Amino acid sequence: MEIINTRRSIRKYTDQSVSDELLVQLLQAAMNAPTARNMQEWKFVVVKNKELQKKMAEAMPNTHMSAHAGACIVVCGDTTIQPKAEYIYVDCGAAIENLLLEAHSLGLGCCWCAVGPNEDRIVPTKELLNLPEHYLPVANIAIGWPAEEKEENHRYDENKVTWVK
Ligand SMILES: Cc1cc2nc3c(=O)[nH]c(=O)nc-3n(C[C@H](O)[C@H](O)[C@H](O)COP(=O)(O)O)c2cc1C
Repeated sequence: MEIINTRRSIRKYTDQSVSDELLVQLLQAAMNAPTARNMQEWKFVVVKNKELQKKMAEAMPNTHMSAHAGACIVVCGDTTIQPKAEYIYVDCGAAIENLLLEAHSLGLGCCWCAVGPNEDRIVPTKELLNLPEHYLPVANIAIGWPAEEKEENHRYDENKVTWVK
């Protein structure tokens, strides 16, 4: 619970680089998430290229932090493996949350930046990364060493729960 409660969206990063080894560890966490019918349709594009990160940040509103991140991981679903977009979104969402929690446990900070289902974000993401036509980009995760601190979350609200016994 401590890692879950203290994870926050981090949008400011130091200049310290994030090693490929740590990024692989995040990807291992992501790919241990559940998927519908165990399809594992996710594809991950790891971007460590500041010029490209800047272009992505400029193309999409509210994603400025991705320009300054040590790396970005664009999480996509392969529509030839899972044709239903709804499943791609929930499967990739589960993988992303695993990735965010593992990153936080390593002391890294992340921000989940929406791509799909917004067409005006899907199109530039596919163009800039030269993604295959059958990839559906779900999110761009900015990753870096935190340069800001945030309060932990306490969002439990019993009014949002119905017990059926
Ligand atoms: C599907 C999704 C899309 C998001 N897109 C953005 C985004 O484009 N830009 C951004 O700054 N934060 C984005 N966020 C982060 C949310 O703003 C953040 O999770 C929320 O405000 C709760 O804050 P916390 O993550 O610190 O608990 C997104 C989060 C989710 C789950």
